[in-house]
Amino acid sequence: MSIDGPVTPTRPDPMAGLPLLEDLPDVAGRKILVRADFNVPLRWPDGPDGAAEVADDFRIVAALPTLDWLTSRGALVTVCSHLGRPEGKADHRYDMAPVRFRLAELAPGVGLLDNLRFDPGEKSNDPAFVARLVDDFDGYVNDAFGVSHRAHASVVGPPARLPSAAGRLLAREVSAIGALLTHPARPFLAVVGGAKVADKLGVLRSLLDTVDRLIVGGAMAFTFLAARGHSVGLSLFDATSVDSCRVLLDEAGDRVLLPIDLVARRTTAAGDDEIVVVGPDLPDDAAGLDIGPATARLFADAVADAGTVFWNGPMGVFEDPRFAAGTHEVAEAIASSGAFSVVGGGDSVAALDQLGLAGKVSFVSTGGGASLELLEHGDLPGLVALRHAPNAAGR
Ligand code: 3PG
Ligand code: MG
Repeated sequence: MSIDGPVTPTRPDPMAGLPLLEDLPDVAGRKILVRADFNVPLRWPDGPDGAAEVADDFRIVAALPTLDWLTSRGALVTVCSHLGRPEGKADHRYDMAPVRFRLAELAPGVGLLDNLRFDPGEKSNDPAFVARLVDDFDGYVNDAFGVSHRAHASVVGPPARLPSAAGRLLAREVSAIGALLTHPARPFLAVVGGAKVADKLGVLRSLLDTVDRLIVGGAMAFTFLAARGHSVGLSLFDATSVDSCRVLLDEAGDRVLLPIDLVARRTTAAGDDEIVVVGPDLPDDAAGLDIGPATARLFADAVADAGTVFWNGPMGVFEDPRFAAGTHEVAEAIASSGAFSVVGGGDSVAALDQLGLAGKVSFVSTGGGASLELLEHGDLPGLVALRHAPNAAGR
């Protein structure tokens, strides 16, 4: 018998054994700590010295079903979150005030603690910090999918001490991505872009055990193109990952699709930008910043054939309209395909929003790194911790 496609057809369901809100003891009159991912983009409408406000409240809105479930049953709810990456000390740029302001509009009466990452104990999962965090609370809910791949104190600590549950957002995320692991409609296509190839090599390797086809775009494609012997000119590429990319390409053969042409920028003698479509070999003086039109068609055709699509990472520097066409064409192909489609990662979601297509995909994940890691490992530290909570079934 010959088997086409990936070696591991299905994987265990990460939802199995997760305690849900219904598994909490009666919450009426109880103090419940909710870990949310309110790591939202901010803006400064009155300039950098003025007050910050929330630029996109997607992640706050996404937590409302859980907050409403709890408050409507009489729970006294306090949310905790990180914001940005302050290095273990108070930093006014990452103050929670703008988030608190928006939360008060959306969920009146719900409290919000200070930025968890103002304390070094959050990242180091310090037991003393966990003890301070859970002190006085009767229950814990993790609704922070976007950070559940990190074994930080607020993610893995409280479930060891309090009755705990996965919130509605976390459960929705895990079941959407769980469906990709357990019963993806085939062909299953992953579209991965963005810059950091070294960070994503592990996930790409493991994706090839799960998906039928892998499309690589964005800056990381240049390291793969270099591994295939193409010249990449001035494009961003990671020389230290070329060998690993070559091994991956040798193993995966034609299951990996790479760009066949590119939109590149070169600087003329007069110092002006010139935008050219070239490739896949790039001249020495050109930097590739988007996939080219032939590539966009190739990728869109692969999307049109797919039964399941997972997309993480833009195809080019789409914030610049000169280099947005590739990401837009891929986004439109995903939105108009009949495939079950999951999109994760801030940049891909921003591109969908820019095009008004967010409502046209099956599921928009609030977590980029977390959705990739869940696909890679089939589980996350935050989920493992919940399955071991004192109230979890099977304890
Ligand atoms: C995110 O924005 O991806 C999550 O909030 C996690 O943030 P982190 O990458 O700083 O841990
Ligand atoms: Mg991130």
